[in-house]
Amino acid sequence: MQHIDICDILGSDAYLDKEVVVCGWVRTSRDSKNVAFLEVNDGTTLKHLQVVIDKQKFADPSPFMKLGTALRVEGKAVKGMVQNSVEINASAMEVLGECPGEYPLQKKRHTLEYLRTIPHLRVRTNTFNAIFRVRSVVSFAIHEYFQQNHFIYVHTPILTGSDCEGAGEMFRVTTLGFDHGYKTEEEYFANDFFGQPAGLSVSGQLEGEVAAMGLGKIYTFGPSFRAENSNTPRHVAEFWHVEPEVAFAELPDIIAIAEEMIKFIIRRVMEKCPSELDFFEKFFEKGLREKLQNVLDNEFKVLDYTEAIEILQKADVEFTYPVEWGCDLQTEHERYITEKVFNKPVFVTNYPKDIKAFYMKQNPDGKTVAATDLLVPGVGEIIGCSEREADLDKLLAAMKQRGMDEAAYADYLDLRRFGSVPHSGFGLGLERMIMYVTGVSNIRDVLLYPRTVGNIR
Ligand code: 4AD
Ligand code: MG
Repeated sequence: MQHIDICDILGSDAYLDKEVVVCGWVRTSRDSKNVAFLEVNDGTTLKHLQVVIDKQKFADPSPFMKLGTALRVEGKAVKGMVQNSVEINASAMEVLGECPGEYPLQKKRHTLEYLRTIPHLRVRTNTFNAIFRVRSVVSFAIHEYFQQNHFIYVHTPILTGSDCEGAGEMFRVTTLGFDHGYKTEEEYFANDFFGQPAGLSVSGQLEGEVAAMGLGKIYTFGPSFRAENSNTPRHVAEFWHVEPEVAFAELPDIIAIAEEMIKFIIRRVMEKCPSELDFFEKFFEKGLREKLQNVLDNEFKVLDYTEAIEILQKADVEFTYPVEWGCDLQTEHERYITEKVFNKPVFVTNYPKDIKAFYMKQNPDGKTVAATDLLVPGVGEIIGCSEREADLDKLLAAMKQRGMDEAAYADYLDLRRFGSVPHSGFGLGLERMIMYVTGVSNIRDVLLYPRTVGNIR
């Protein structure tokens, strides 16, 4: 269907005084004596295009006026009343899809909770128009950043036989029905599709390391799955995961890359999404632009875990979870550090080894690992990062301590046998990054179809 995108018509003078065809959905309509006005949106911009209907030409404009109706409009693009605006004087109109009065989106502002009940229609609101455009710009910026810096984009498998994070949060994959009849677990798995337990990958890291050990610098960007039973505004069962892995990089090197990448993404969003940021500033987070500008203008804080514990112990706040050296930081602790103490992104480094994954490089102190989480105000952890243990014996010891099956990690261990090098990587949760740059506070609102416990519409 030949037509012009509304963003192109509104974005320049190129179409002024020309005949154009546009398509879109009616967002508002207003009738008066001699003319009727419509605002239509085709999704290519947050802005609506005004269509002016001369009632001498269209005696009954009512079929075009109903909220949500899909239209094709032919007409001349002319200067509008508002400065720098363009509108269309309609000469021919066609209803592509009628929209009856029970349309679940009405003119008023709906709550985000209500909109979650209509995921298939909420994309037609300004809020989701803005969120999904930013999501697209962020995703492209991520590729741009890594491609400019000699990283190779690799696709790691989604079906996996090994649990990367070792936290038992993997979804099982099976082709066996309920009534399989096998008596033992061994027999059950032996007769399943892969002849062994299989699941959906929680992270592409282990295969990412394989790729980095030949390609040098790689990144993955795809879905990861977590069967965490956590009903929070920050967790979903299916999220998009960006995981660079870099050979010949130690912890400070990967920290520098993470900071540079975050700043690159923010810069791109500020360049490419000015109207969206205005919108989020108005409806979601006062001071959003200033926050983002501050991120660009300042260095992130790097804070040792041990120091973080001291800060928390001295804090004049009653935490729900007690703080002592060795404990995992809870959301309340993370937010206190990044929001109340530093008010900027903070890398917390050198966590106790017992609360972190087996693959992290053990520090000489024997107690901590060369790992870091990046915490940001308003969201908490957005990146999990570490230097990897490159020493075979130390890695084997860490696996043994956790009761892990060496055979299942044979490839991974081989990387330490043949030309092992220091290397590091991190995982950025795409949705959490989007929450940070938009000020949208629930992860369910930055995914088309969020998957959470008990919800897979
Ligand atoms: O901290 P995580 O678990 O680290 C890893 O998976 C490492 N293998 C990454 C690596 O070093 N290659 O997860 C990384 C990030 C988190 O910081 C968070 O942003 C996001 O992934 N994430 C989730 N996002 C939404 N819902 C969930 N359930 C998430 N779990 C992790
Ligand atoms: Mg983590």
